[in-house]
Amino acid sequence: MINDFIYNSNKIQNIKGTCKWRSPSNIALIKYWGKKPNQIPLNTSLSITLNNCYTITEVSYQTRNKIGKNFEFFFEGKAKLSFEEKLNQFFNRIEKYCSFLSLLELKIESNNSFPHSSGIASSASSYSALSLCIMDIEKKLNPAIDDKYFFQKASFLARLGSGSACRSIIGSFSSWGQTSILDHSSDLYATRFSSKIHNIFNDLCDTVLIVDKREKEVSSTIGHQLMKGHAYSNDRLDQANSNLNKLKDALENGNYDLFIKIVELEALSLHAMMMTSLPYFILMKPNTLEIINLVWKYRKEKKSKICFTLDAGANIHLIYPENEYAKVQLFIKSDLLKFCHLGEFINDKIGNGPFKL
Ligand code: PMV
Repeated sequence: MINDFIYNSNKIQNIKGTCKWRSPSNIALIKYWGKKPNQIPLNTSLSITLNNCYTITEVSYQTRNKIGKNFEFFFEGKAKLSFEEKLNQFFNRIEKYCSFLSLLELKIESNNSFPHSSGIASSASSYSALSLCIMDIEKKLNPAIDDKYFFQKASFLARLGSGSACRSIIGSFSSWGQTSILDHSSDLYATRFSSKIHNIFNDLCDTVLIVDKREKEVSSTIGHQLMKGHAYSNDRLDQANSNLNKLKDALENGNYDLFIKIVELEALSLHAMMMTSLPYFILMKPNTLEIINLVWKYRKEKKSKICFTLDAGANIHLIYPENEYAKVQLFIKSDLLKFCHLGEFINDKIGNGPFKL
């Protein structure tokens, strides 16, 4: 199966072109935490793609006429050498599947819709946008490939950049990680959530409260590694599967209260894994906890359907139905803003998948 994604082209003489894709960021509701070799996740994750937080990547390519480095990377118009090492590693990982890349010279220009160093992870939208551009080049060399293969392989490649990036290729609700709970699921790429989703979840809003913008003390890469030999690793696997089952049920049947319970349980379980790793670490900040307590109070008092989730960081994603938008905005401004870094937050909502520009 993995070998289905190997493409060796012999038609590389003198090609030249550009391609441009916009790809969204995503936030996991069931969290991926821990991996096996070759970016295979320990557990199945489920996420929603966002609408306003995205990366636009343009790749200009031509047949290579010099040896040495074969790509240049520009982020928001400036050469970004610090990212080149990560990109080098990505290109090494995907070389076997896209050998044509070593015969090309690439200029990669990337821009994010969300502010630089806002504390919002951009690896998901960045690697997914870049992988779609790479697939565009492959399609130019091999026009016979169909959409199914195009997006599956784009997700497969994005996964090798950053695990969660593979879910950004599939819009709205998408899952990654083989499980008997979801049809068509795979460890190698993300797939669309296979069940019919109740329409009360069609218009979810996601407001990201920026609590801390600094670089995390412990990266996700290290965090994933610490799940190896973690005292609760097996229990976490069982819990993630059980939560996935319950969330599936909630999404299919429109059970909002169950949705809230599982989304928050997953966020706190992710951080519980960090706090019980060896070495242990804490990415939440005092203001993260202040906000969580206020969200719980607000939900109870106002009979709201608001809940929160967390990434591997201190920032909070508030998730709520669109019909509560106006009230939640007032709540944010009156009670939560003071806990955000410079009062910063980003209003977003569930969005579609990537598209070509
Ligand atoms: O894709 P990575 O390696 O940055 O890991 C992301 C892990 C979480 O964001 C914490 C959870 C997830 O499923 O996205």
